[in-house]
Amino acid sequence: MFFRVRHQKMVHVYLLVLVILGILVVLGAMIAYHALLREQHFQIQVAVAKLASGDSNYQRFDSSASQYHQNSVMILEEQKPLVIYNRVPKTGSTSFVNVAYDLHSYNAFRVLHVNVTGNSHLLSIYDQFRFIDNTTRWMRPAFYHGHFAYIDFERYGYKKPYYVQLLRKPLDRLVSYYYFLRYGDDYRPHLVRKKHMDSSTTFDECVERGGSDCQANLLWLQIPFLCGQSADCWIPGSEWALRQAKRNVLEKYTLVGVTEQMGEYLQMLELVIPGGMFRNASEHFKHSSKSHLRKTAKKYPVSRKTIQKFHESTVWQMENELYAFVAREFAFAYAKQFPNISSGHSGTMKKHLKISAIPPPSFRYEKIYPKPSNQQKKKKNTARV
Ligand SMILES: *[C@@H]1O[C@H](CO)[C@@H](O)[C@H](O)[C@H]1NC(C)=O
Ligand SMILES: *[C@@H]1O[C@H](CO)[C@@H](O)[C@H](O)[C@H]1NC(C)=O
Ligand SMILES: *[C@@H]1O[C@H](CO)[C@@H](O)[C@H](O)[C@H]1NC(C)=O
Ligand SMILES: *[C@@H]1O[C@H](CO)[C@@H](O)[C@H](O)[C@H]1NC(C)=O
Repeated sequence: MFFRVRHQKMVHVYLLVLVILGILVVLGAMIAYHALLREQHFQIQVAVAKLASGDSNYQRFDSSASQYHQNSVMILEEQKPLVIYNRVPKTGSTSFVNVAYDLHSYNAFRVLHVNVTGNSHLLSIYDQFRFIDNTTRWMRPAFYHGHFAYIDFERYGYKKPYYVQLLRKPLDRLVSYYYFLRYGDDYRPHLVRKKHMDSSTTFDECVERGGSDCQANLLWLQIPFLCGQSADCWIPGSEWALRQAKRNVLEKYTLVGVTEQMGEYLQMLELVIPGGMFRNASEHFKHSSKSHLRKTAKKYPVSRKTIQKFHESTVWQMENELYAFVAREFAFAYAKQFPNISSGHSGTMKKHLKISAIPPPSFRYEKIYPKPSNQQKKKKNTARV
């Protein structure tokens, strides 16, 4: 029979064959393992190279890019950001949103307006969940904008999106809204506005008469928009709401800017939103006529007496505290990012500033274990210079 061994010699031969087979199997496994490691190394290298060269901002979402990273779900997901702008009325949000609409085809992302029924800023719990689930899983990269208060994704077990926001000086915002309701703006000049009939009353006169459209409590809008969907966010004068709004600015929002410095804000967004969604945004904003288009058609300057009266109200003081907090945070971040540009208003923004002028990182990686292989070491040495 085939398996029967009669001679001692044959046993030796079989043993030898077995040992050789064993060695081959072990070698094969080692080669496969090595290949796997190299693949992982490669993926890490790709990620590090992208970070180091800073060009992750410029990745397009075309099919070649997604094929390139098809083994790396994490990188792919982060290149497809979900950006949410819960815009506060009359803060210059239309100019900002127009930049997104103008850039969407160059930078390959979708822009969607969220129209909340009845102009309400609040959603039911189940609608919040539906909105979160829908935006998380639907087409990306995407930029959603709408007039709703902050919705907390993490609360329902989802990853938080890139929240962006612009705030404006609270009294300026209210005055702008007041005249907007009466005269409209140059964006849709022929639309008849709600308070069209009442257009002869100036804001000052309204304050003097104690009218309902110019009450200090109407200033309470930027705090609740940043605070969120809770009942207490919407109680004018709530200290808790102000604290919560500040906490959200730092913990939940990617970056909050101020209307008065929109050009600078766009410059920063170019850097912090991945996937190149805002590539060339500040440059575009400077040259676009549309971005400056929407101005309330008619506006009377507000008297010192009116300003004084508002400054005495608790609601103005709190809204202003949030505005000042955001303005300070933004100026601080901007100065750190662009130390050689004086932080003035958009008009003084230096013309020569380009994204290519960004300095190399002020940090680097070292003491890396396990040690990089020879090939990688060579690369690193040339890269560091
Ligand atoms: C939101 O939808 C309503 C109803 O369809 C519509 O009348 C309204 O104009 C929309 N709002 C905006 C800002 O487009
Ligand atoms: C999100 O909502 C839209 C409109 O209601 C719908 O067409 C789409 O299928 C939804 N997507 C997901 C992933 O739920
Ligand atoms: C950036 O925007 C400006 C103004 O719209 C335009 O002239 C320029 O060609 C754009 N640059 C790039 C690289 O898209
Ligand atoms: C910024 O200014 C400092 C000091 O004036 C100078 O040394 C540095 O080279 C400048 N950096 C850039 C990028 O212009």
